[in-house]
Amino acid sequence: MDICLRLQAAAEDLGVAAYLVGGFVRDKLLGRPCKDIDVVAVGSGIALATAFAKAFKPALNVVVYERFGTAALKLGDFEVEFVGARRESYNRDSRKPVVEDGSLADDQNRRDFTINALAMSLNIANFGDIVDSFGGLQHLKEGKIITPLDPAITFSDDPLRMMRAVRFATQLNFQIAPVTFAAIGEQRERIRIISQERITTELQKIMAAAKPSIGLTLLYKSGLLRLIFPELQAMGGVEEKNGQRHKDNFYHTMQVLDKMAERSDNIWLRWAALLHDIGKPTTKRFELQAGWTFHGHEAVGARMVPRIFQRLKLPLGGELKYVQKLVEMHARPVALSKENITDSALRRLLVESGEELEDLLLLCETDSTTQYEEKRLRYAQNLRDLKEKIETVEAKDSLRNWQPPISGDDIMAIFGISPSKTVGDLKTAIREAILDGEVGNDYEAAKAYLLVEAAKLGLLPK
Ligand code: CTP
Repeated sequence: MDICLRLQAAAEDLGVAAYLVGGFVRDKLLGRPCKDIDVVAVGSGIALATAFAKAFKPALNVVVYERFGTAALKLGDFEVEFVGARRESYNRDSRKPVVEDGSLADDQNRRDFTINALAMSLNIANFGDIVDSFGGLQHLKEGKIITPLDPAITFSDDPLRMMRAVRFATQLNFQIAPVTFAAIGEQRERIRIISQERITTELQKIMAAAKPSIGLTLLYKSGLLRLIFPELQAMGGVEEKNGQRHKDNFYHTMQVLDKMAERSDNIWLRWAALLHDIGKPTTKRFELQAGWTFHGHEAVGARMVPRIFQRLKLPLGGELKYVQKLVEMHARPVALSKENITDSALRRLLVESGEELEDLLLLCETDSTTQYEEKRLRYAQNLRDLKEKIETVEAKDSLRNWQPPISGDDIMAIFGISPSKTVGDLKTAIREAILDGEVGNDYEAAKAYLLVEAAKLGLLPK
């Protein structure tokens, strides 16, 4: 609270009324940690920031945004932002408002939700008093997200707030009030004026929450998902043919995602859970013998991942490769655990999953959402058996991060040839033979095999 008293001293020196506002007040009242402090001065925010810095720590760097009438400074872990109380009006195709000086009431009016429109006084006369013009305190207690003004105006003015409503509902486990939620449905097309980066920032906050399905289901039900993530929307719904129904892949995915969120904070593993069945709508078929099938949905899904990442402006490096690999391989361990597993199949799984083996097995575990106790137990037991067998093979063959003992460079040197398809084919042949257990996993055995295979192609060592 030292910062608050310093803010108070600066406000009193300048003779302005000053308030803590927004997320800081909300999170303090909820007992959540908060690193950003927003201060509103009924007067100049820049002057208050400068006076505060001068009195507190003259060396402090105050970043002033003259054009916006705001100033910001960093105090250890805290970022403090100052603004003069303002009134805002919007025009139709931008979320950038026209701004005029205003009263505290004007400033509260312009805010997105009542729980974000609380102000706490910093001045001596009423220090700590909460100015609550819209029932925000009550809504914090009730766990309710509701706009201070007509929600159609709040969302149309700044459509990002629709994503924020869903994100706060997810992070705080609050309910969006029915009128507010209905307005999201009505205003959803307005999301098109928001940049992808901002939408994705909110999506990532939803994915990082304790129960991401809350937000994704709200996006689905409001119709926003269809606009920002049509591939996920397409997973929803159940079809029936010849009395057979398939499961609703959207809600199945939500269950998998929540189970994953309980077990892992790795956001990309959560993305893998979200996308593991994304290829299902495209591969869905009804076959008379087999009923509903989704043949090849893993490979189709894996091919969809780069396009989705690109459109959502998610990182296109290692994170993408990781998610793609898990989507591609997500059914492999289950398929294996149903069969009489051969050592060679286990070796392949180990080599192909590499570093991602544990994450892949975790994804498999969360992918089981059957409500039938007996089936669930059998599935869990199969996976445990599989893990044990993997451990045995791994201990025996030390295959983690395995590379064949002969590289492409070795092959080129042995035969005096340049890079070509033949080099690749020979490399693959060695790799396959070792994984099938036909050739020992060492240089001499691999070279002997290589010479035989190369001779078949008319290649002799130089
Ligand atoms: N705000 C708003 N509309 C927006 C963004 C912000 O009305 N689209 C207002 C809200 O009063 C919000 C405050 O500005 O509380 C600060 O915004 P921001 O720092 O983005 O969000 P917080 O509410 O602090 O929450 P978080 O830090 O979790 O994003």
